[in-house]
Amino acid sequence: GGDPLVLGIETSCDETGVALVRGDELLVDAVASSMDEHARYGGIIPEVASRAHLEAMVPTITRALGEADVDLSEIDAVAVTAGPGLVGPLTIGASAAKALAIGLNKPLYGVNHVIGHAAVNQLVDGPFSGRTMALVVSGGHSSLMLVDDVATSVTELGSTLDDAAGEAFDKVGRLLGLPYPGGPHVDRLAREGDPEAIRFPRGLTAAKDQAKHAYDFSFSGLKTAVARWIEACVDAGREVPAADVAASFAAAVADVLTAKTIAACRRHDVDTLVVGGGFSANSQLRDMAAKRCAEAGIDLRIPPIRYCTDNGAMIAALGSAVVRAGAAPSSLDFPVDSSMP
Ligand code: KG4
Ligand code: ZN
Repeated sequence: GGDPLVLGIETSCDETGVALVRGDELLVDAVASSMDEHARYGGIIPEVASRAHLEAMVPTITRALGEADVDLSEIDAVAVTAGPGLVGPLTIGASAAKALAIGLNKPLYGVNHVIGHAAVNQLVDGPFSGRTMALVVSGGHSSLMLVDDVATSVTELGSTLDDAAGEAFDKVGRLLGLPYPGGPHVDRLAREGDPEAIRFPRGLTAAKDQAKHAYDFSFSGLKTAVARWIEACVDAGREVPAADVAASFAAAVADVLTAKTIAACRRHDVDTLVVGGGFSANSQLRDMAAKRCAEAGIDLRIPPIRYCTDNGAMIAALGSAVVRAGAAPSSLDFPVDSSMP
C-alpha cells in the first residue's frame, strides 16, 4: 500500500516490544517480558529491567522482521517510546531506535507511551471516527484523555494524584497476602465476594473535590481504608472476609473510574470511549464500563488484553499516525523523558 511501513519499539517498563505497522494494519507484534524475574523481587527493579531490555532488543527486532518477512531496508520510519517510564529502560529502546534510524537513514519519531495505549485501539477496531475519550489504566498510569487527533491533539483531562489503579490493586493484594502482582488475584477473589459488603470511600468524588479534580483520581485513601478495615477485623479477633474485601474494594475503583469517565464523555459530547493499559483486564472495570456505557449510549472499545498491556504495536500505531499527520521527526539526539506529561 501507499502508507509508510513503521517499526515501533517499546521499552518503558518491563516489556521489550517491537512491532511493524503499515497504515492502521499490524504486520507483527513481538514482545519479550522480564516480569518473571521481577516477580521474584515482588516489584520491578529498574536495573534488572534495563539489562533484560539490552539482552532482548536485537533478538526481538530480528524475530519481528523474520515473522513479518520484512527486510530492514523496507522500513520507512522508526518510532520509539520517549516517555514516560523508567529512564534506564527508555534509554535502551531510544538508543536502539536511534541506531536503526541512523543506519537506515530513515526518520525517527519519539512518541508518548500513554497516548500509545489509546492509539493501538485503531489497529483493532479501526480509525477513530471523531472526538474520542481515552481511559488508560495500568500499574503505572491512570489517565483520562480527550483525543481530537491521536497524532496531534490530545488533552489530558485528569490523572491519578497518587497510586495508579493497578498499583492500588497490587497493594491490596499484598494486604490480603496474595502473590505479586496482586491485581489479577484480587480480581479473581472479588468475583466470589459481595461488592456491597463494605462501603469503601470513593476518592475525589465529594462536591468540593469535584470542582477542582472533576476528572482526577486518587486511590491511596481507598487503599488505606482497606488496610484499616482489615486491621480492625484482626484486632477484633474476627476472620477477614477476603472475598468481600476484594469485591468491595474492586467495586469502589471501578465505580470512580467509570463515573468520572462517563461524566467527561457527557461534558465533552463524546460518544466513543477507548480503554487501554494493563488494568483493562480487570473484570469489575469491564463489567461496570459495559453496563454504564450502554446506559449512556457510549460506544465502548476495549481491545484484547495483549494489546492493552505494554507492547510495540501501540508505539508503531502511534508512530504511523504521527508520520501520516506529517509531523516533523525527532532529532537524533532527543532525550528520553521519564516523567513526560
Ligand atoms: O500495563 P501493565 O501490564 O504494566 C504497566 O505498565 O503497569 O499493567 C499491569 C498492572 C499491574 O498493576 C497488574 O496487577 C494490574 O495492571 N492488573 C490487574 C488485572 N490484570 C492486571 N489489576 C486488576 N485486575 C486485573 N485483572
Ligand atoms: Zn503502559
